[in-house]
Amino acid sequence: MLVLSLESSCDDTAAAVVRNGREVLSNVVASQVAEHVLYGGVVPEIASRRHCEAVSGVVTEALSRAGVTLDDIDVLAVTNAPGLIGALLVGVSFMKGLSFTSGKPLVPVHHLRSHVAANYLCHAELEPPFLSLVVSGGHTHLMMVNDYTDYKIIGRTRDDAAGETLDKAARAMGLDYPGGLNLDRASVNGNPHAYQFPKPHVDSSPYDFSFSGLKTYVINLIHNMEQKGETPDIADLGASYMLAVASCLTERVEKAIDEFHPQRFAVAGGVSANSVLRRELTLLCERKNVKLYMPELSLCGDNGAMVGAQGYYEYISGTRSDLTLNAFATKEISL
Ligand code: KG4
Ligand code: ZN
Repeated sequence: MLVLSLESSCDDTAAAVVRNGREVLSNVVASQVAEHVLYGGVVPEIASRRHCEAVSGVVTEALSRAGVTLDDIDVLAVTNAPGLIGALLVGVSFMKGLSFTSGKPLVPVHHLRSHVAANYLCHAELEPPFLSLVVSGGHTHLMMVNDYTDYKIIGRTRDDAAGETLDKAARAMGLDYPGGLNLDRASVNGNPHAYQFPKPHVDSSPYDFSFSGLKTYVINLIHNMEQKGETPDIADLGASYMLAVASCLTERVEKAIDEFHPQRFAVAGGVSANSVLRRELTLLCERKNVKLYMPELSLCGDNGAMVGAQGYYEYISGTRSDLTLNAFATKEISL
């Protein structure tokens, strides 16, 4: 079964052709980073307009690189939530048009579900149930993936997402958007123990995360140093901050492993590309004897292929949409 998929929830216009939820035939991304970098972050209206311009070309390119035509496609899958509403509406409207003219079934895909599904593309043997951590620019969820379309949230952030806190810290350190990625690059040779950070916790919710205190702490640290005429060593500060964020994440993962005894653990989302987090999770899973799954770096961030993977599992579980499909800025991962 061939799925043609489209992702436009943030600043990437991405389309793909995926076979049976596991095999990527094509994966095309038109990134808008070069434009948003001028503003230090994603400007929603610009994102919508660029999706509008790029979407047709990206979908055409995905079909052509896969060596197929629309006639060969069985299912159309599109991200419809959560994300920037104007950006999502472009993708949803485009795929509704394609479904109307072609008569092909249309399947809506939840953005975080698709991030988890990026792992199905990289690990043929991975099947639910497994423990999963989704860390993106807007979300931080620790959950059990009981089945391909059945999730149980164990913990989530009470304030900033992991990606957001890395982006804001990077900005305070004078690094360009996308902050998390540039912080990772700038800190390769840094000392992760050069600076100490508080360990935030949420009273009576041991699996929930809180990152806003860490963010404020690092911003104050930088301002205080600047007032004293000191210049922070960005490599050391970045490495220490990434370790602090990664430790918050791995501590909850460890606790969940001890309580729920999963055999498999999969990390996903843009922040799963982070070198420190990948290293810390590798050490943790080795120590706990849990099989660790991580997407390859090119599939950690937003992409069309992950939507095609999850779209396949949504379709075979019976999910269908008609032409009244809408987009939503927020939506729970489980209904
Ligand atoms: O999943 P994603 O591409 O988009 C959302 O759904 O939000 O995640 C974007 C986030 C941004 O916060 C970005 O800074 C972060 O992922 N990110 C990273 C790295 N690459 C991307 N954070 C840390 N280290 C990286 N290597
Ligand atoms: Zn994402």
